[in-house]
Amino acid sequence: MEYDAFLDLVKRRRNVRHFKPDPLPEGAVEKMIEAAHWANSGSNAQPWEFIVVTDPARKEALLDIYHQYEVSGYHLESTRGDEFKHPARAKPPGAPRFKEAPAIIVVAADQRTMLASVMAATLYPENHVFHMNVATAVQILHLAATSLGLATEWVSIGNCIEERVKAALDIPPDFRVYVMVPVGHPARPPSAGVRRDVKDIIHYDSYCSDKYRTDEQVLDFIRGLRRASAPRPAGK
Ligand SMILES: Cc1cc2nc3c(=O)[nH]c(=O)nc-3n(C[C@H](O)[C@H](O)[C@H](O)COP(=O)(O)O)c2cc1C
Repeated sequence: MEYDAFLDLVKRRRNVRHFKPDPLPEGAVEKMIEAAHWANSGSNAQPWEFIVVTDPARKEALLDIYHQYEVSGYHLESTRGDEFKHPARAKPPGAPRFKEAPAIIVVAADQRTMLASVMAATLYPENHVFHMNVATAVQILHLAATSLGLATEWVSIGNCIEERVKAALDIPPDFRVYVMVPVGHPARPPSAGVRRDVKDIIHYDSYCSDKYRTDEQVLDFIRGLRRASAPRPAGK
């Protein structure tokens, strides 16, 4: 694949939060997982296992756990000023937005695989090797879905619900689950992506202090993100 085609794929991937209930094409999830399992990982530890949830009862259990997480997130969000409230947590939540997605891929990661890594990776948790190992595969899941004409959402699983998610899906105790990926057909065309200019984030040889943003510039940037992610009227 040439760079232009690759960049096009990367730019077309959007975080989609509303799905149609339409079924997935045969084999689509397996293709996503095949691609994801070629992700890189520290020492090639490959901690990932993928639980593809389509069974209505298991899905309902997951949605219920996630809903409670969103309720607690709403209460946390209520403690900060309106200007910076995250739009996803600004109102009391209803059912999770991704509820119609025909499949939810829960990414489970086996902590024992860290034995493959150098000692420093396990002794210094700040190295975050285990977390980074999970992220590489998750990113590829998303890109593979885009290449198949499908949409995905990155759904973080907070620590406070991790054990309940594991119990709901019979995931062994020595695994961690940080993220799940609903996949399906988007309910509406995704909005355009928002990114900083490349020229503002690229530094050659050393950090260019002219590019260091003031606190107010960072706050303005976040205000801009909030405007860009404000809920769109139906049909837009
Ligand atoms: C580490 C990480 C955690 C995220 N957690 C969530 C999440 O819990 N729920 C959600 O809807 N999106 C989540 N996202 C998606 C981001 O909000 C989204 O990628 C970002 O707003 C940029 O939008 P785009 O992906 O459409 O370009 C997460 C993304 C990453 C990389």
